[in-house]
Amino acid sequence: SQIMKGGYDHFMQKEIHEQPDSILQTMRGRVRFERTSKHAVDPYKEHRILLGGLTDQVETIRRSRRIMFIACGTSYHSCLAARQTVEELVDVPVALELASDLMDRHCPIFRDDTCVFVSQSGETADTLMALEYAKVRGALLIGVTNTVGSAIARMTHCGVHINAGCEIGVASTKAYTSQMVAITMMALMLSEDSIQRRPLRDAIIEDMGKLPDSIREVLKLDDEMKALAEQLKKEENLLVFGRGYNYATALEAALKVKEVAYMHSEGILAGEMKHGPLALVDENLAIIVVATRDRMYEKMKSVIQQLRARHARLIVLCNPGDPDLETLMSPKCRLIHVPRLADCLQPIINIVPLQLLSYHLTILRGFNVDQPRNLAKSVTIT
Ligand code: AGP
Repeated sequence: SQIMKGGYDHFMQKEIHEQPDSILQTMRGRVRFERTSKHAVDPYKEHRILLGGLTDQVETIRRSRRIMFIACGTSYHSCLAARQTVEELVDVPVALELASDLMDRHCPIFRDDTCVFVSQSGETADTLMALEYAKVRGALLIGVTNTVGSAIARMTHCGVHINAGCEIGVASTKAYTSQMVAITMMALMLSEDSIQRRPLRDAIIEDMGKLPDSIREVLKLDDEMKALAEQLKKEENLLVFGRGYNYATALEAALKVKEVAYMHSEGILAGEMKHGPLALVDENLAIIVVATRDRMYEKMKSVIQQLRARHARLIVLCNPGDPDLETLMSPKCRLIHVPRLADCLQPIINIVPLQLLSYHLTILRGFNVDQPRNLAKSVTIT
């Protein structure tokens, strides 16, 4: 297993560092980064995104009454992160369901629904139950998995393999970033009929090409994240605030921290702060705030001001060169800089330093990072 870890101490660490490549694999052969096709006879002539598994279903999906994403855990967070992209690009209402909750509620599903099942393993029992439930109701079933031949890949009508490569660490890392890329590609493909959305599509595709290098850049924060973990390792609580595209980043970072570092952590939608969570804040509480420069940036700055007024200890994830945020830097406020990309791609790089943080917190707290207690890699019981 030392060989399989390829020089890294743990699978989770290896899988975090593999992300520049796993993301590239997810996009390989599916995205045409040049704006115009150079070749006369080219399958990409009109298409810039081609997901082979979905080509026959594009019209059916566009005509469906709703696109419903169904998943558990980290896979659910990837759907949450990419939901807004689908909403912005495709004229079909989007719903998002945790598989277990969908089943608990006997959520209505109809034959003109498109149900997208997102699962790294393709074997998660809750997701499989929801798949059978949707099948009986006649919906179009799409699988987004990382495992060729898995139950979900076999039982769906069509799908997308994320091609992130085998993920061994119980804490999902590279599958998460590849799932976000896969759903983004799906949204881009479904919107190719819209001329009006072309500028947005082109901007996203251009920045997709920058993803591997941006992640490489972010991975250089490893030592900084280790130093931060050193500061935070004795904490009992850690809050993570985000909103918009980065609400998912907050939930996913908190899930990583509780899952492997066994530290209580909550991801909080910043828009809900004054509806309750603000009462928790005092000078002892450590809070990570995701404040990269997307559409939510101004709102996040005001969140930071309110947290500062209550003397919270802040760790702000932001883009470099921001005078408003630079002035915050102090013993009580630390900045983590990540490169700027299109709004909808920002969560893909924002999560990476927080994955590194959860990894180092776990090592420093002395726990088994690849096999956290009470958890299994694929949860095959409901
Ligand atoms: C991720 O770190 C967790 N171990 C867990 O939430 C996982 O994402 C969930 O069980 C879903 O698994 P799947 O993607 O294989 O369906």
